[in-house]
Amino acid sequence: MQADDLKSFRERRGLSQADFAAWLNDRLGRKYDRQRISRWETGGEKIPTAVARLLLDEVVAAPTERHGPALVSSVSLQKGGVGKTTTSVNAASILALEGYRVLLIDADPQASATLHLGFDPIGLQASGRTIDNAFRDGVPIADVIVTVEHSGLDLVPSSIRLSKTEAELMSRPASNFILKKLMMAVRSDYDFVFIDTPPHLSQMTLNALTAADTVLIPCQTEVLAVAGVEYLLDTINEIRELCHPTLQVLGILPTMYNSRLTQDRESLREMHERYAASLRVFEPVPRATVYGQSVAAGRAAVEAIPDAAGAGAFRAVVDALVTERTRRFGSTQEVAHVA
Ligand SMILES: Nc1ncnc2c1ncn2[C@@H]1O[C@H](COP(=O)(O)OP(=O)(O)OP(=O)(O)O)[C@@H](O)[C@H]1O
Ligand SMILES: [Mg+2]
Repeated sequence: MQADDLKSFRERRGLSQADFAAWLNDRLGRKYDRQRISRWETGGEKIPTAVARLLLDEVVAAPTERHGPALVSSVSLQKGGVGKTTTSVNAASILALEGYRVLLIDADPQASATLHLGFDPIGLQASGRTIDNAFRDGVPIADVIVTVEHSGLDLVPSSIRLSKTEAELMSRPASNFILKKLMMAVRSDYDFVFIDTPPHLSQMTLNALTAADTVLIPCQTEVLAVAGVEYLLDTINEIRELCHPTLQVLGILPTMYNSRLTQDRESLREMHERYAASLRVFEPVPRATVYGQSVAAGRAAVEAIPDAAGAGAFRAVVDALVTERTRRFGSTQEVAHVA
């Protein structure tokens, strides 16, 4: 492996030199730092064999032209403003930028993911191209998909009309299975599907949890949000018992963390104390202005600024999803072979 190869590997993954050092240390149990990475990239120091081997293995495991079946992840917490949409948009964008086929389903009538990715929910609603048309009118989900220009991420947009449709779902039989059924037609076209859910236990949240293989729980490092995790875990347990025994929790992603605030440190400590024995608690996403700015710009933060603060935390989530997909379906090559 040459210095340029190492640098382009790091840049493709959107990692800063410091984040890349942490990524390597996590896998190799070493204590590399930013300066060391810089020396490798400029040819000032030889790249160790173990590092070169790890990177080559990662390149071999990278996605091929064949895709599917998708690992479906619901991004959920029954608490508002904790970073569900930000997590969905950024994790999905990282995977899309890496060449995976990724679909993000905006299952929230607020249409935050749709807006975040620069689409106009009102216009899409007027032209009959939102998730609401799939639920209400039986339009195939493939017919409402739009593609994000820069990353190649596919999106099923949402619109406010979904809130009315959602209320009407109550009268439909097995109403929590509708999304799972709609998704069946596209699941084999994608490697990963993310479902961004509303902040309450609505029909759309139940549909998402029923359709998902895993649940990713973004949780702000704040007392009320941490308390909300318990409600969601109760709901997940009920769904497991009633209809979906293999529904799994990928982990909790602490968000908007400000290490200077006692309250944030205390909430993070509590998350670990309560859940780390049974669930993975990812490294926290720091509070950073880039996330608000990227909403205004209509782009994912990790796409506009690959080494944005917190990109490493989203990267760890993405790595866990890739591992989980391989565990369930085998490597991309094996999956392609079976298909
Ligand atoms: N790490 C962060 N640092 C600073 N601001 C953030 C961060 N993550 C998210 N935000 C901002 O916080 C607000 C809420 O985030 P987001 O929309 O992702 O939460 P949500 O859980 O999806 O909300 P809702 O429950 O309404 O769907 C947004 O304005 C977003 O830009
Ligand atoms: Mg949201």
